[in-house]
Amino acid sequence: MGHEILDACCDVEVNHSDEPPSKSEIMQKIKGKDGLLCLLTDTIDQETMDSERKLKVISSLSVGYNHIDVAAATKRGIYVTYTPDVLTEATADFTWTLILAISRRLVEADGYVRQGRWRIAWSPTMLLGSEVHGRTLGIVGLGRIGQAVAKRAKGFNMRILYSDQARARDNVERELSAEYVALDALLRESDFVTIHVPLSETTRNLIDEAKLRIMKQSAYIVNTSRGNVVDEGALTTVLEEKLIAGAATDVWEQEPTPEDNPLLRMNNFIGAPHIASATFQARSKMSELAAMNLVSVLRGEMPPHLVNRDVLNIRPLSSARVI
Ligand code: DGY
Repeated sequence: MGHEILDACCDVEVNHSDEPPSKSEIMQKIKGKDGLLCLLTDTIDQETMDSERKLKVISSLSVGYNHIDVAAATKRGIYVTYTPDVLTEATADFTWTLILAISRRLVEADGYVRQGRWRIAWSPTMLLGSEVHGRTLGIVGLGRIGQAVAKRAKGFNMRILYSDQARARDNVERELSAEYVALDALLRESDFVTIHVPLSETTRNLIDEAKLRIMKQSAYIVNTSRGNVVDEGALTTVLEEKLIAGAATDVWEQEPTPEDNPLLRMNNFIGAPHIASATFQARSKMSELAAMNLVSVLRGEMPPHLVNRDVLNIRPLSSARVI
């Protein structure tokens, strides 16, 4: 695990609390430190970076790095690293968990059984859901996770559409039998829409009310990327008005989401607490990779996963070396 990798070569101070530290706690704790290993719940901005000029590397235990001001880090010669690949399969599996659970009404069905609402042994119309096999899947963002989701969709014999900033390579499209279409066409034609773009200024509220209104009334949307890619208020409206069939999300505009979030009152909605990568296997690999990334920079070696390659021109690896 990551702890052992760090302990073997660094003096380590660990935050043992499950509560994310406040910004001022982070600023205080990084005093005198060369490296910071953080989580996606830690916002690392310019002010935080400026509070410790020794800082050479920020290693995030996550594939998303929208919580770190990467441009500011690069300017200051701070290496930013992340943990892609090792959580791809877990996240794709969980995306499918949500697709199947919302379309086959699994959470509602479980409630029926547990809450004594299952009174008729079998009925031809009880808890009817929507079939997945042979339908159309729209993947917004065909990166690593989007591609892993598409591979699984082939097993369901689905037509696969995707939209992205750039078209995937020919061999990727061919292997996945994925068709590149504009976002609006994807939303119009898909029975299931799944979101796999990183959060950035171009993808914030990418799926707003106008986009949701393009979807079929029988379609479902699933989000395992970042909450702010989908406008939650707009999602609430279209679900309330039954303009789409259902939605499932692992990620939220605010995490934890408030208990009075209106989405939580709806039967055509399933929510999870940001656990798509939460398998023993993925989390232990993430922890190792985050530690290796951090230690590599402090050894003056190329980290396995560097976000900001431009930093190499500002602070060469040899001058980041402290161990
Ligand atoms: C990430 O790593 O960015 C995911 O959201 C959590 O695993």
